[in-house]
Amino acid sequence: MKKEGKPISMITVYDAAFARMAEAAEIDMLLVGDSAANVMLGMDRTAGISMEAMCLFTSAVKRGAPNSYIISDMPFGSDSTPKSAACNAKKFIEAGANAVKVEGLPLDSLRAIIEEGIDLVGHLGLLPQTAKNFKQTGGNEEEAEEIFEQAKVLDSLNPCAIVLEHIPNTLGKKITQATDAPTIGIGAGKETDGQVLVMHDLLCMHPFKLPPFAKKFANFWEAGVNAFSDYKKWVNEK
Ligand code: KIV
Repeated sequence: MKKEGKPISMITVYDAAFARMAEAAEIDMLLVGDSAANVMLGMDRTAGISMEAMCLFTSAVKRGAPNSYIISDMPFGSDSTPKSAACNAKKFIEAGANAVKVEGLPLDSLRAIIEEGIDLVGHLGLLPQTAKNFKQTGGNEEEAEEIFEQAKVLDSLNPCAIVLEHIPNTLGKKITQATDAPTIGIGAGKETDGQVLVMHDLLCMHPFKLPPFAKKFANFWEAGVNAFSDYKKWVNEK
């Protein structure tokens, strides 16, 4: 999969309607991110979302995009032991996922998922489930070395991809060159094997400040507010 061929496009989706759109646009991989906690449920932290909610979002995405490669995010705490990791990963596969994504390097849990024959996607760099803040990580030599070493360990497990979040471009490039698994960057520069964006940032679906690495490809917020206002006017005019 790695390096040969075209860069990999991945976006987050959480429901059938947008999953259908993403499949029509031939996006390579759909991520049912635990960012659903923020963008779908209005929570402050991704750590607040449950397995039940994530399975519900996964099954909706599967119904909307039955032919796409779907990755479900293991929510905070769901992979805290090898047994719970394997059991919860199986629930995602039953709900329609092709792979599961795990933040960080809980090695025994990662191995337990792989032993079930389930495709694994890693996630290194900024880890929103446990991060104290959302600033770039890997900016000093020590942090960069730690993330690089984690990437090599993760790569030895043969994951189907490694998401790299909010790290310096140079580190994104170095990891990409050193690993066999394709790297998917979100704020990791343009030298990774692919890119992922949160759908609500990409479509600008909210009025909030976007993360520095996000890129806007549409303005759904403005279009939506205008459409609702026009509808209200139309109702008022009977
Ligand atoms: O949950 C999510 O949306 C993610 C992306 C930021 C990669 O993990």
